[in-house]
Amino acid sequence: MNTSRNTDHLLAQAQQTLKTNDRGGYTVPTANLYPFQWNWDAGVTALGWMTFDPQRAWDEFHHLLKGQWISGPNDGLIPHIIFHQPSDSYFPGPDQWGCLADGTVRRVATTSISQPPLHATMVRAMLQMHSDAAITQRNLQPIVQGLVRHHRWWYRCRDPHNTGLVFSIHPWESGMDNSPAWDVPLAKVPPATRAYTRKDLGHIDNSMRPTQAFYDRAVYLLDFNREVDFDPQRIADSGPYRVNDVCIISILNRASHSLAGLCDQLGLHEDAAFLRARCALTQKAIGALWSDALGQYVSRDCITGQLLELPTHAGFLTWYGKLVLPEHDAIQHATLSAWLQETPYALPSTRSTCSQFEPARYWRGPIWQHLTTLIAEGLERCGHTALGTRLHQSTEVLFAKSGFCEYYHPLTGEGLGGSNFSWTAATYLFWNHLNTHGQHPASGLRAA
Ligand code: SER
Repeated sequence: MNTSRNTDHLLAQAQQTLKTNDRGGYTVPTANLYPFQWNWDAGVTALGWMTFDPQRAWDEFHHLLKGQWISGPNDGLIPHIIFHQPSDSYFPGPDQWGCLADGTVRRVATTSISQPPLHATMVRAMLQMHSDAAITQRNLQPIVQGLVRHHRWWYRCRDPHNTGLVFSIHPWESGMDNSPAWDVPLAKVPPATRAYTRKDLGHIDNSMRPTQAFYDRAVYLLDFNREVDFDPQRIADSGPYRVNDVCIISILNRASHSLAGLCDQLGLHEDAAFLRARCALTQKAIGALWSDALGQYVSRDCITGQLLELPTHAGFLTWYGKLVLPEHDAIQHATLSAWLQETPYALPSTRSTCSQFEPARYWRGPIWQHLTTLIAEGLERCGHTALGTRLHQSTEVLFAKSGFCEYYHPLTGEGLGGSNFSWTAATYLFWNHLNTHGQHPASGLRAA
């Protein structure tokens, strides 16, 4: 197949993936394995919809915001899963979290944790991709207001002492569920002792999924959260797992810059000033997450203060987050360049030379295309064009070789996990759009 036929074929396949996973205004990541709407998946997936159905892209956000908590101490929380419709193919479902719809705090059943809040940056990109004033007018304001409320929740509930570095309270909240970065803090979390049945292993081979020991801790933490009635104060004071996750911190910081710009556009100047002040605080604090030993940024156990010095790709998101300090820039660039020599396909989620690297197991080694793309965009925006372009090309190789899978084997390029995966297809559609509209590299996100 020649290149343009191959591109046409991939484009059709990517659009079909989103249509197949559409559940009437929101998109499931993939059928059966993930049968609901996921938080950060929705943000990435909207970019894909934007390339061929703009109103449908905005609808993804409207549906996500239906799950936002609208009163109480967690006002503004956008949960990590919105259970719009029932499904018995997933554990833990709505019966587990203690967050059913009550009409006061929640209009829809949800989980009690969040996910990396990349939405405002995606909204900025969507505005640059499509300039129909009527559609923008209809959609933008309620979404920006919901996102401001959400960012205020992050800063109020997850950084109550104004350190500049928010914390996450569950490895599912990081989005990078079983990353080796969480092994040390999770080892201090007791295992759940109640019986439960995983459903993921009915869909995907055990060798590609988190271990039972991981699930036991994940279930313990969701039970803990329910037992303290989701009280942010009690969680901040005594939650057994609190981590300054460099992925969330970077993504939140970038999105706060994006959101401040959107607020300016809508005349919400007080919100814009608040967001910029929080970004300034984070910029001052980020140096605490630098690892001299690894030559990159890492996460930190917020309870013990210990740096979690595991070489994961999350640290490279600091470029995307506009957070890299000048004294660290060249060193982290050299670290990433070294990673790229070590595997035939990029970018592994854990460095392949690390003893915890498992190339096929979820977030312990496989490549996640949307994250490679965000890291590439951050590099290009910071002037590291050659490295950014190289990363971007590596995503194209995998799309062409293995289609739209959940994640990819960094040694073989094989597609792994769920197939027909929404955010992977959306990432392809978005980058193809930028290329064909002369906006590459990365300018669709660059102004955001
Ligand atoms: N990624 C999680 C799972 O595997 C939930 O967010 O179920």
